[in-house]
Amino acid sequence: MSPADPTPRSRVVRSTLAGRPLVFRDDPYSQRVRCDHPQVSDGALLGERLLGEAEERGRPRVVVLAAARLAEGLTSAGLWEEARMPGYYRGEEDCVVLGGAPHGAIGLADPEGVARVDALLPGYPVDGSAPDLVSLRAAPEHAPLVAALVAEAFRYYPTPTGDPAYVRDQVEAGVPFRLLMDGGQPVAVASADLDRAALTAEITDCVVLPSHRRQGLMRALIRDLMGDLRGMDYPTAFTLARAVVPGINLAFRGMGFAYRGRMLRSCRIGDGLEDMNVWSRRL
Ligand SMILES: CC(C)(COP(=O)(O)OP(=O)(O)OC[C@H]1O[C@@H](n2cnc3c(N)ncnc32)[C@H](O)[C@@H]1OP(=O)(O)O)[C@@H](O)C(=O)NCCC(=O)NCCS
Repeated sequence: MSPADPTPRSRVVRSTLAGRPLVFRDDPYSQRVRCDHPQVSDGALLGERLLGEAEERGRPRVVVLAAARLAEGLTSAGLWEEARMPGYYRGEEDCVVLGGAPHGAIGLADPEGVARVDALLPGYPVDGSAPDLVSLRAAPEHAPLVAALVAEAFRYYPTPTGDPAYVRDQVEAGVPFRLLMDGGQPVAVASADLDRAALTAEITDCVVLPSHRRQGLMRALIRDLMGDLRGMDYPTAFTLARAVVPGINLAFRGMGFAYRGRMLRSCRIGDGLEDMNVWSRRL
């Protein structure tokens, strides 16, 4: 986390819906109400409820990641499908990413920036390159190196990965973090945030030092994390990539991830609220 931006990111709200537990996050930081993997059966009721919660809290946007069986109900409540990740849940059921807004449709945060990256993607070669650096699976003592790279790269960031104590906890809990070392110095990092229940992982915390960009290092990190996840028998992985940053989208495409859709104004990262591309693949 950058020193300029030490605030907590979101608050968990626990409630019920038609007798089933409902958990969502009120996220003033990214100006949204976000509900991940709800364990409810009525998508329409869920959609109406989340839009109401967003309106009440003054959040202009709702984000839902849910099992595909809830998609029809959620869209009937006025949410729209932004992306779909095949086999997300234990390699079997798809996950749908839906957006919603209590006050009607919203547009992209940066249509021109997104279009510039879209134009680069078709025809980009799909394979991996092997740079001549040491790839380390981070141990707890590497937490300060990871945190420093992430804090340095982002003014805003939606998780506390700039905090060494947080990273240490994650590493100790078994989350794979990878560092690329050049002459003993860390030059790039990425991690695979585990969704243990779904048996999938979000490749995230992707940073390459400016001095080392455009040499395939991000692709190498993705390849190594894919190997870590395969070793853990995870069947799929995904990422939410800043839609205006060329290298991150090209790197995932280059490593065989398929474009699944775009989340509008989804996340406060980089310089502010940004559109995020959803990519995923089977491992
Ligand atoms: C995004 C980031 C990690 C990419 O790192 P990188 O080392 O440049 O990644 P790669 O070299 O693997 O890039 C992938 C491809 O995109 C290409 N690329 C990168 N920037 C590009 C640009 N502006 N225009 C065209 N191609 C570009 C690279 O040349 C590379 O192509 P190649 O494999 O054919 O050589 C790095 O720019 C970064 O740390 N940015 C700041 C943090 C950030 O925004 N992270 C993303 C969070 S979602």
